[in-house]
Formats: sequence, C-alpha cells, structure tokens
Amino acid sequence: MNPIYLIFPDSPGTIAPEIYGHFTEHIGGVFYDGLWVGKDSEVPNIRGFRKSLIDDLKKIAPPVLRWPGGCFAETYDWRDGIGENRPIRRNFWTPNDGRLEDNQVGTHEFCDLCEMTGAAPYFAANVTSTTPMDIRDWMDYCLSPRGTTTLSKLREENGHPEPYHIPYWGVGNENWGDGGIMTAETYAHIFKRYAIMMRNVSKDAKLYACGPNADDYKWTRELLETLESFRDYMDGRNLLNGVSMHYYCGTTEGSPVDFTDAQWYQQLRQAAKMEEILCRHYAILEAYHREDAKLVIDEWGCWHKDGSGPSKGYNLFEQQSSMRDAMVTALTLNIFNNHCDKIQMANCAQLVNNLHCLFLTGGENYITTPTYHVFRMYAAHQGAQAIRTAFQCRGEDGLTVSASVKDGKVLVTIGNLSCTEDREISLVPVGKDFIGTASGTLLANENLGAHNTFENPNAVMPTAFTPGKTVTIPKGGIVALQMGIV
Ligand code: AHR
Repeated sequence: MNPIYLIFPDSPGTIAPEIYGHFTEHIGGVFYDGLWVGKDSEVPNIRGFRKSLIDDLKKIAPPVLRWPGGCFAETYDWRDGIGENRPIRRNFWTPNDGRLEDNQVGTHEFCDLCEMTGAAPYFAANVTSTTPMDIRDWMDYCLSPRGTTTLSKLREENGHPEPYHIPYWGVGNENWGDGGIMTAETYAHIFKRYAIMMRNVSKDAKLYACGPNADDYKWTRELLETLESFRDYMDGRNLLNGVSMHYYCGTTEGSPVDFTDAQWYQQLRQAAKMEEILCRHYAILEAYHREDAKLVIDEWGCWHKDGSGPSKGYNLFEQQSSMRDAMVTALTLNIFNNHCDKIQMANCAQLVNNLHCLFLTGGENYITTPTYHVFRMYAAHQGAQAIRTAFQCRGEDGLTVSASVKDGKVLVTIGNLSCTEDREISLVPVGKDFIGTASGTLLANENLGAHNTFENPNAVMPTAFTPGKTVTIPKGGIVALQMGIV
C-alpha cells in the first residue's frame, strides 16, 4: 500500500490556467478537415468550425490556443488571411506534403474559434521573413480601438469593429532551427528590434522571446546574457515577459500503438526528463533575475513516427494516441503542476490530427483520444493552488502525482507508471481533513496500446467510481480523485 501525503501548509503556488493550453498550427490536418470544415460543409459546424470538436473542446476549458505556427509562422504574412479573395500560397510545409495554404482561416476566423471556446489567442509572429513593421501593423490591425487607425478601420470593414483581445505574442518560433538557424546572440538583437515595434501598439500584450529547444541550456544563457546589455532599456519598456521552450519527448522505435514493455518505459523516461529540463532553464532565469519572465512551454508532447493516424500519412505528423500517450500527458501535467512557480504557460502539440493530439478527424469522422480524457480529468487543476505531495513509490515504474485545491475541493491526479503491476494507494491529508463523499475517475485499459478509432471510438474511455479508503490503480492507469477539505 502506498500512502500519498498532501502537505497542506506548503504550496508551490497557483497553477496558471494557461499551463493547460494547446497549439494549433496550419500544418497537415490540424485546421483543414480538422478544426475547420467550412461554413458550407455538410459536417455540422459553427461558423465553419467542426461542431463536435468545439463542443468537446469547451468541456476542457482551453485557456489558450497558440497560432498560426510553429514553423508555419516562418512564411506567414497576416495580410493573406483577411478580407475577400485570399491568396493561395506555398507555405513552410509545402515541400514536405505538397499542400498549399488557401488562407480560409485567418486572423478573424481564428479569433472566432477562440471566442467560441473561451480560449485566449497566442499569436506567433514571423521574425524570419517579415519585418518588425509588418508585425507592428498586424498588432495595429488587431488591437487598435475602433475608428482610430487606418488598419483598425480595415478590421471594421472586414467585420470586426471592436479590437480583438490577443494577450500573448511570441516573438518568433524556433529561431535556433527553421526560424533562421540563428545563434542566441543574433536572435537577442532581432528580439529587441521586434519587441520595440510591438510595444509601439500595446503596453499590455505579453511578449515572449524564443527560448531553447529541450536541454539547450547554452541558448538560454546566451540569450539572457546578450539581453543584459540592454537591460535598462528593455526593462524600462517591459519588453521581455517570458522565455519559451520546446520539448518533444523523442521518437521511439516501433508503433505508437504496439510496443514492448521496454519501449513503454523508454517513452516515459523521455517524458519525465521534462522536469529536469524546465528546472535547469528556470535556474538560468533566476541567475539573471528574470523570474518575472517565467517559462512558456510553447510545444510539448510525444513525437512518434509518421503515418499511424487515420489518414495513413496524408496529414503530416498525424499519429495515433494510446494509453502510453495518455500516461505521458498525465506525467507531464503533473510535472507542470508541481513546478507551477516556474511556468506561466504550456501548449500541448498539437490539438487535432497531429503529434500528441486530443482529436482525430476526417470528413464526418471524429474521435477523442486518450490524451483528451486526461485533459478532461485534470481540468479542475486550472487556477487552483498546488499542494505539495510526498510518497515513496517513485522511479520509472512508480507513481506520478500532483494535487491542488480550489474552492474547498482537492483534486489529486495519479498515474501508475508500471506496465505490469497494479498499485494500491491511499491519500493522507497533513494539516487538514477530508469531508464529504469523494469522487473518482479512472482511465485504464488492460492493453496499454489501446486507442480509439473511427470504427471503435470508445475503446479507451474514463469511468467514474466512488473511492474507498484505498484505491487500486491498474497498471498503466490514471486516476483523478476529488474530495472536500477543511
Ligand atoms: O509541431 C510541429 C513542429 O515542431 C512545429 O512547427 C515546430 O515549431 C516544431 O519543430
């Protein structure tokens, strides 16, 4: 039996709702035939967006959606996505899949999606192939008050008189890679040029600098070191509000739905590395006294080999999602909750028909993945006060745990990382008492490669149960337990 202690007086902080964000890029099937089916489609839709998906997305209260890339941002000109007669362009991914971007979804449609789902938009600015003035103009178009600038009047002509609320702006994407293969020093200079222009429009928008890939601590150090030379100027204008990072937990051999025990643990080990990576990047922020520019984990998730999704490789990077991906989700979100003092946002990559997705679609077909169910089970952590936990059963086949409290209710989320042994747990509050009846949700399957398909959409579904004094978590299973606390 494994007691899990909830240590009440000792909280790591508030779990920013934005930690439960998502990434939606124009790539493969994320938008076209994914989120977007078009207003004239026979697939039920709300203003062009797939209705079933919108309905389910609302249930997990997405706090933020990042758009339009990713690497797609490197070739994106925002002017292509407004008004009538939108151009058809090659885009960043055209060499990979031959598909062209016809810009059916642009600024207005994307903001519509955010409004429908309650998510805040997070725009990634193209600093690779457009100018600081282009980005300044995009912000002017989106944010200037009604009837003021020429661009605000153009927005009104295009159907949106009032300014949009776009609180988060990324200054570039992966500028160490396809965003220009820059050094951190070069990027730091680019960052300040764009950020100054962006502050020309908005005092309040949060501006995030392109941070490292995975464990590239050198990038973080050199970025912050270079920015030090402009510290007074930058801080006087509040230019730096966050440092982004990307971490995909590697490509494992074999199929995403048919793997050995060794491959199960290999995947989870890679996912668990997130903890060390984010702590070490945050320590660098602390060393430069940049705690106010906390980490933004722009992109995270499993990256399996291509072609396992229902489109069989037509949609770039589309992959199936099994109980193993669900466990990576549970483990990663637990890490984020437990380190909520270091992170201001995190976006799971990507929402639909892509890496580590929550939804798979195609024509009228639509399913939720096991990863979706984990987000649903964890939704009440958003905005809650994190609780420190203590337990013995650690290691690669141990437990992953996080806990939080909000409005007098505790939520404890636990994954049993073992792929062979069930684990029995009990919760022990330290400094408080449980009251009332507890409720529980379990996501588990005897087959850890189990996944949902168009033919069998409910193969992996959560079940509700009433927890006793102890709870047995099946091998590879995930539970969410909720109870009152005084
Ligand atoms: O999510 C797919 C791609 O992965 C994104 O476009 C890019 O930012 C990252 O390398």
